[in-house]
Amino acid sequence: MTWVPGPRDGLAPTPVVRLGVEVAGIPRELWLKLEGYNPYGSVKGRTALALWRDVAGRVDPGAGLVESTSGNLGLAPAALAAAHRVPFTAVVDPRTSAALLYDIRALGARVVTVDTPDGAGGYLLGRLARVRALLDERPALVWTDQYRNPANPAAHASGTAPELHRQTRGAPMSVLVAVSTGGTLAGFRRYVAESGPDWELVGVDAAGSVALGGPAGPRPLSGFGSSRPSAFLPDGHRPTVYVEPEEAVTVCLWLRDTTGIGVGASAGALVAAALRLFRADARRTRAACLCPDGADRYLDTVYSPVWRRAHGMTGAAPLPGVRVLAVDGSGPLTEGAR
Ligand SMILES: Cc1ncc(COP(=O)(O)O)c(C=O)c1O
Repeated sequence: MTWVPGPRDGLAPTPVVRLGVEVAGIPRELWLKLEGYNPYGSVKGRTALALWRDVAGRVDPGAGLVESTSGNLGLAPAALAAAHRVPFTAVVDPRTSAALLYDIRALGARVVTVDTPDGAGGYLLGRLARVRALLDERPALVWTDQYRNPANPAAHASGTAPELHRQTRGAPMSVLVAVSTGGTLAGFRRYVAESGPDWELVGVDAAGSVALGGPAGPRPLSGFGSSRPSAFLPDGHRPTVYVEPEEAVTVCLWLRDTTGIGVGASAGALVAAALRLFRADARRTRAACLCPDGADRYLDTVYSPVWRRAHGMTGAAPLPGVRVLAVDGSGPLTEGAR
């Protein structure tokens, strides 16, 4: 967990699993890029490394770093800070996974929990206020600021997006990216603009998230959506698919039960959105989902019957008109299909 790449090292590519799925009677390819296999267990491992490299030259080893996070961007900087022997404070909220908090604390980081809802469906605004208060108290603290630091989208424009393009051998497809700060989606957008892959780039946001201009509402799933507009995508993104929490959870359980692949809540939302796109257009036969993390961080939420009952969710259910045909990590793409 405390592995730290050197200044010129990159991260190894994360695996991509190709599923054959029949949707509305038509066979399609669904590619899942499993970012939970990054060194710090999520796509934020990439972001954290880029943020660290951006601020490393101005970190005061006595004061260290601070960041606001729903969890994934707490663990990765905690590991990097521990390896560089600098203090790190993670400002989290009550939805942060217990498993992540355990690991963050085990790495020696300080955890500050903000438990006042921000009135926009989450806790982000309160977390940011707490970060600012900590910076006022201790001006030598450095805030990596995943919400505005251009190193966040840059990590995905130069790393994640071209890696997916290579792994899918340049095939035309819909590419679905989940939104929180908007950094990943903005990075993918830049890659599309600069390198022109034959992609339909689709944003997937939580119902109730204002990240891309939607109306605010309650958001029970951690790490997915935002209480304020994305600084990286001030004009939003089209097309964007909004996913309700229950749909994301149902698809997580369906995926586990039909393929043995355990993903986090926002990945469930991505797959739900991909299935909707497939249903909407018979000519769409290929989609890739950038799955931000794995099931390990959601054992006390998505994968807990107690949590699901408390949130009025029924649990596992078949998805009408959807059938898994094959789970395969390799093999030829469907010729001529989009
Ligand atoms: C669980 C989860 N969902 C969604 C995202 C997308 O986040 P962002 O828009 O901040 O890049 C991430 C990023 O790591 C994540 O960890």
